[in-house]
Formats: sequence, structure tokens, C-alpha cells
Amino acid sequence: VLAYLNGSFLPRSSATVSVEDRGFIFGDGVYEVWRAVNGRLFQSDRHIARLVHGLGELRIALPDSLHSSRLGPIADRLLGESGLTDGEATLYVEVTRGAAPRTHQFPTNPTAPTVYMTVNSFKPADELRARGAAAITTPDIRWMRCDIKSIQLLPNVLAKQAAVEKGAIDALMIRNGMVTEGSHANFMGVIDGVIRTHPTNHLILPGITRTVVFEIAAGLGIPVVDEAIAEDEIEDLDEAFLTGTTTDVMPIVRVNDRPISNGTPGPITTRLVTEFRAYLDAACGAAHATS
Ligand SMILES: Cc1ncc(COP(=O)(O)O)c(C=O)c1O
Repeated sequence: VLAYLNGSFLPRSSATVSVEDRGFIFGDGVYEVWRAVNGRLFQSDRHIARLVHGLGELRIALPDSLHSSRLGPIADRLLGESGLTDGEATLYVEVTRGAAPRTHQFPTNPTAPTVYMTVNSFKPADELRARGAAAITTPDIRWMRCDIKSIQLLPNVLAKQAAVEKGAIDALMIRNGMVTEGSHANFMGVIDGVIRTHPTNHLILPGITRTVVFEIAAGLGIPVVDEAIAEDEIEDLDEAFLTGTTTDVMPIVRVNDRPISNGTPGPITTRLVTEFRAYLDAACGAAHATS
């Protein structure tokens, strides 16, 4: 697998960064993950816009390689030379404030950001999707800027680990009695034919799959209300699902070992699963292959 690091292409196993990199020392950086189908990036401009937002909030100058005119050719080469132009893949991009002697404040000498990109083959969890997945709940112990796709993911790591240890796909994070989102996906519920999800603010990542699902739902005439779901409302949901770049639309049929409705994917979720897959394939010029 090929990687891109600070202007060079090299085998990923040879890509190294300084131990003084502020990403390593402080988690001082942001990342982004794109879906690629048949070598085409899905929703590329929205991922770039979110990365630009995060970099702006951290006051890291936008590296040239991340302008959309440069990123496309870099991604093409990474996917092409890694043999990932057929089928499913992901593109990972990380930018940190760069390497400098350790001080909490920003380095005083101008420091070039570290820019790392790589690609991975990917297999959507379609068998689980057909059955529906389980989730647990866990306290949302994250900071107050969850809108920034920071590389500091310790609460997310611990939440996901807790889920895996319980045989669940993800942990729904609870802040002030409300579900914010999963460890790497947004959460939506359906009550009386209406989709409900946490509002777009500093407490969640504004998911790109979430936005696409909003657009698909609008096209299908399914109302979406951005009102958070309370923890004690989970058991009353008619349907529930997660959305994310590597999650697509994933039905959640059990939470903390209690079934959602009858414990199978509901009709609105099932419709969104199908429509999302069709949208992804159409956007990436793919034949309707999986699911
Ligand atoms: C915390 C969190 N929420 C939501 C999402 C889903 O966002 P997207 O649909 O853009 O992948 C992610 C994706 O990685 C995430 O890390």
C-alpha cells in the first residue's frame, strides 16, 4: 500500500514521522476519511470542507496538497498504485501542526504541518446490515468541540472498545441525558414516521453520510427533525440506525440488550439502506454490485 507524506509517495511501511510531531505528542491535528468506490471519492468536496473547517479552528494553515485540485490526483495515485481502483476502499488524510520542540503553545518558529495520506481496501458490513446490529450506551466524556474531527479520539476508542467487548457494533454516547452520536457514526431514531437526530452543533461531528441521508429522506418525503433523542426514549423508538463513511446506513435493532421494536430493521431504515447504497454507487459510477 502506498502512502503520501509531506510531498512524497512511498510504501506505507516506510512512512515515518518525527517523535516531536505535535500529533504524536499532543494529538494536535485533524483527520478525514473518504469512501472510494471504483477509484472515485464519494462526497469529496464536503470532506475537504470539513477538513478546512477543522484546520481553521485549530489555526493550522491549509496545506497546498489539500486543495481540491491537488487532493484528487494524489488520491488517484494512491488508489491506483495500491490496486484499489476496483470496488471498495477508503482514503485517510491526517494533518498535524508539525514537528517542533515540545511546548503546549504553538511553535514560535514557522513549522510546516505534517500531511499524511493513505488508502485501504474496505468491506462494507452488509451481512450485519441485513440482520441489524446491537449497540450499547456509554457516557459521552468528550470535549466541547466534537464538531472538529480531531485525531484525539481516546473517548471514542474507549467507547468502541466497550461496545466490542459486549458484542455490539458501537456505543451511543450520552451527554446530559441525550444521545449525541456513536463513536464513529451519527445516530438517528424513527418515531411515528419521523427521523430524529441530534442537532448540528459543537456536541457532534457533522457527518457527511448524515447530510446525504437528510437529502435522501427529503427526496422520499420522510421528515427529519433535528432534536436529540433522550436516553430514556431509546426504548420507545420505532427504528434506529447509524450513519457514517464506513458504516453507511446501519440498522440498530438492540440497545443494551433490549430490542428496538421487534428487533429487526424497520421499513424506513431498510429503505434508507437501499437508497443510500444506490446513491453511493450512482455517485461513483459503479454498477449496483453489493447489498
Ligand atoms: C464521532 C463521529 N461521528 C460521526 C461520524 C460520521 O461522519 P461521516 O458520515 O462524515 O463519516 C464520524 C466519522 O468518522 C465520527 O467519527
